Amino acid sequence: MAFPQTRLRRLRRTGALRDLVRETDLRARDLILPMFVVAGLDGREPIASMPGIDRLSISAAVEEAGEAAALGISGVLLFGVPSAKDEQGSQAWDDEGVVQLATRAIKEAHPDLLVVSDLCLCEYTSHGHCGVLRDDGQVDNDATLELLARTATSQARAGADAIAPSDMMDGRVGAIRAALDEEDLAETPIIAYSAKFASAFYGPFRDAAGSTPAFGDRHGYQMDPGNGDEAVREALLDVQEGADVLMVKPALPYLDLVRRVKDATRLPVAAYHVSGEYAMIKAAAACGYLDERAAVLEAMTSIRRAGADIVITYHSKDVATWLRAGQ
Ligand code: PBG
Repeated sequence: MAFPQTRLRRLRRTGALRDLVRETDLRARDLILPMFVVAGLDGREPIASMPGIDRLSISAAVEEAGEAAALGISGVLLFGVPSAKDEQGSQAWDDEGVVQLATRAIKEAHPDLLVVSDLCLCEYTSHGHCGVLRDDGQVDNDATLELLARTATSQARAGADAIAPSDMMDGRVGAIRAALDEEDLAETPIIAYSAKFASAFYGPFRDAAGSTPAFGDRHGYQMDPGNGDEAVREALLDVQEGADVLMVKPALPYLDLVRRVKDATRLPVAAYHVSGEYAMIKAAAACGYLDERAAVLEAMTSIRRAGADIVITYHSKDVATWLRAGQ
């Protein structure tokens, strides 16, 4: 009896046939490696909750970027930790700020590696919120837009290949686009964190960047994990405001939105496999509860299958190394 072949069973018998019919591929060039660059740091400093990831000095960041480039990884995403924080987060738009200096140094040493700069004030403000505060302690959306626009132009002037706003203020993509265009930076693309959820999975990142809010939480400006339609509407709004790439974050708990944003916009989509997702796999692997290589490759392949063109992950160097060894 010949059953309909829904499972491609006969095609899985040899590796060559399996590869031939595989729908999803994963390549080093799909990856972007996030990095934490710390002003005034000497060398590297491990991040306890993210084994294998260090806080980096500018010269260590150049070295790390070189390793990523040699492995065929497309780019790095830079987060800066300034030497001093204030109410406004003024180090963010300092032309000699840590991200600006790191961007120049990395582009000079590795011109073909993409440098994406994350754009947010939370690493730079003394209170740890993503924008400036009003007297009542709430984030002032509109006053923050101007500071974000200033930061974006400073980062782009430093040589960033793309700007990735992660602050989640309303109207920021439009404000940043207008500011870049005015300064003759019309060719600098915006990778918008469009669907960024108020997630428990950012915990290790906040340790790494020292950006845990001193009071309150980010529920006022990040999205409710229960809301998928809202995420799609946010993405469509970002398209109208001029976003070039749309990001969904975190990745694995929100794969439905990677697909929905892709289908709704047909624009390039990036998915950010965040610090907590990384820490979970590392911790389970360290306990011997799962096979790290297999689990990571499965997670990354799933993110691609859901529709992501770009995968931002702290596992990038390991993935690229494994893919190379597997060839
Ligand atoms: C800044 C920002 C955060 C992350 C990326 N950009 C933290 C946050 O929103 O609290 C998290 C990334 C990660 O967990 O790896 N707004």
